[in-house]
Amino acid sequence: MRPYRPGDRQDLYEVCVRTGDGGADATGLFTTDDLLPDVFLGPYLAIEPGLAFVVDTGERASGYVVAAADTERFVAEHRRRWLPRFAATYPLTEPATTPEERLVLLGHRPEAMLALASDRYPAHLHIDLLPDVQGRGLGRALIRLLLGALRARGVPGVHLGVGARNTAAIAFYERLGFATLPAPDDATVVLGLSTSTQV
Ligand SMILES: CC(C)(COP(=O)(O)OP(=O)(O)OC[C@H]1O[C@@H](n2cnc3c(N)ncnc32)[C@H](O)[C@@H]1OP(=O)(O)O)[C@@H](O)C(=O)NCCC(=O)NCCS
Repeated sequence: MRPYRPGDRQDLYEVCVRTGDGGADATGLFTTDDLLPDVFLGPYLAIEPGLAFVVDTGERASGYVVAAADTERFVAEHRRRWLPRFAATYPLTEPATTPEERLVLLGHRPEAMLALASDRYPAHLHIDLLPDVQGRGLGRALIRLLLGALRARGVPGVHLGVGARNTAAIAFYERLGFATLPAPDDATVVLGLSTSTQV
């Protein structure tokens, strides 16, 4: 594992797509495969590259964890630095009815991230590993690296939202000690971890 470098970006975009359907391959689900990573990965690489860590197999980057240290500040930066280009690439359709239109809407509404943040868990994260590097302790190791980086910045805790049907990921987070937090709806599970936890 090592810190993210800009040359990893294309590899990581592919990781995001190949794990983006509740943990399964989302290739071809949307008009362009860049849409998912442009919502869930690109903003973090652009705004918080110092909190991105990758699994490097020697051949390629096959996994990542990315995060925002302060979700409120991240939302403001997203609106200022990411949204203009995103909005030009993905125009809004209202009302948003199809899964693709709803994903585009989410990309236009970074404020939606604020709903899950709290004083105790102001940071949030996304983690994805390609199937061939899963189940070897690398997810745990990436979370450990991220917790250290967040601790060094004085951040007390980190949260995330995961689809309720992604039971494998939920089992992983619970194993690491994440606690279940109030969720906005039945389709989402919200989990939080103090950065002082040893994982
Ligand atoms: C979820 C994910 C990040 C976990 O990373 P990983 O490297 O496979 O997990 P690790 O090998 O580090 O597992 C750490 C611990 O969690 C446990 N764990 C992992 N997956 C589990 C599962 N499906 N069920 C039960 N326990 C599980 C492991 O047994 C291990 O416990 P141990 O260290 O006490 O033996 C990875 O599998 C992944 O990227 N999945 C696809 C994308 C995804 O769903 N991302 C999350 C979206 S919110």
